[in-house]
Amino acid sequence: MRIAPSILSADFAALADDIARVEAAGADLLHVDVMDGHFVPNLTIGPPVIESIRKRTRLPLDVHLMIEQPERSIETYVKAGADLVTVHVEVSPHLHRTLNQIREAGARAGAALNPSSLPAALEYVLDELDLILVMSVNPGFGGQAFIPSAYQKLRQLRAMRGTRRIQLSVDGGVGRANAAPLAEAGADILVAGSFIFTAADPAQAVRELRSASEVAK
Ligand code: DX5
Ligand code: ZN
Repeated sequence: MRIAPSILSADFAALADDIARVEAAGADLLHVDVMDGHFVPNLTIGPPVIESIRKRTRLPLDVHLMIEQPERSIETYVKAGADLVTVHVEVSPHLHRTLNQIREAGARAGAALNPSSLPAALEYVLDELDLILVMSVNPGFGGQAFIPSAYQKLRQLRAMRGTRRIQLSVDGGVGRANAAPLAEAGADILVAGSFIFTAADPAQAVRELRSASEVAK
């Protein structure tokens, strides 16, 4: 199991310290939420902050674009330091082209599914995908309640993936209580924001998520 702390719930004024804490605790990648105030009703950060984060950590940057027309800025995000760029299927009418664009820019390519979106949207782009992000909340905010239909979606996607090297990641409301069943349903990566960054000890929270999920495997 790989653990991806989402910095959405970190202290943006002390980001370097919060990142160092989860990196030292053995986080595998850093999940960076980019929101545009259009696709989702919230605004976060963009390329300049990602560029600054890139200089402060060796963790791969897993950039989750919750923005309209992501194809307009993919190269900018990769240049800023994104190792993995995930776009939402709901705003990507030419998903096949967009995923290729991400790979051509030099990053790994991911597609995210909102809770109401169907796995079938990815059936014809499986060979273009390095990661599928299953949203287990409606994107836009940290700290929301987990939507359990993610379990079934993960199982469906695992079957659909077959032997391809596509990572299944789950994002939203992930914590100690659902880490084991998520691992069982097929998650390869757990994204967690509030569970980690609102914990008294974020490093301990990273370790707890990993041990809870590994019991299931
Ligand atoms: C939600 C974001 C998530 C968010 C998860 O739109 O994509 O990455 O940080 O936060 P928690 O883990 O608190 O649900
Ligand atoms: Zn996210």
